Amino acid sequence: MFTTMKEGRAEDWAHIAREHGKHQASTAPRQIMDNLRRLEDIEVGFGVSQLHHSLQAGTQARRDGASDEEVVAALCHDIGKLFSIPNHGPIAAEMLKPYVSEDIYHAIYWHQDFQGRYYYEHLGKDAGARDRFRDEPWFALAEKLVDDWDAPAFDPDFEVDPLESFEPEITRVFSRPKRMV
Ligand SMILES: [Fe+2]
Repeated sequence: MFTTMKEGRAEDWAHIAREHGKHQASTAPRQIMDNLRRLEDIEVGFGVSQLHHSLQAGTQARRDGASDEEVVAALCHDIGKLFSIPNHGPIAAEMLKPYVSEDIYHAIYWHQDFQGRYYYEHLGKDAGARDRFRDEPWFALAEKLVDDWDAPAFDPDFEVDPLESFEPEITRVFSRPKRMV
């Protein structure tokens, strides 16, 4: 194995590519599960933790017959809050980008502006922020993500499916990238 990339041979890179693939398949789903679990520690002023919020959104998506990618989007849309609040949507969207459709990527990326309908006016911002996306092909999906699964998911009495129950969907979605970015 080389000590500097300029000395890399074809067989080195074949080996590295194989090992990256194995790592991806075995590690990515577990990392997502572990990080979702860490949302338990984030309250940020709501009546439920960010873990409960995420599980409620994911559970509702599941009950609505959503696809694996949509369930994972509902579960993970706020995972970026572990790292940064102001750009948590883009962070989550980029984490999911190789594994989900372009539409889901955009819906997660912009979900905060779609939520704006419910609270931007209280913060001196434009409650109609979502309207500039009305002609986008992913607009209806973003409305479903936010209006049906995200915005209503702050009910401590909602019986959520446990995090472990989402492992099959998370494993299916995160084991294999569908595209490079
Ligand atoms: Fe959310």
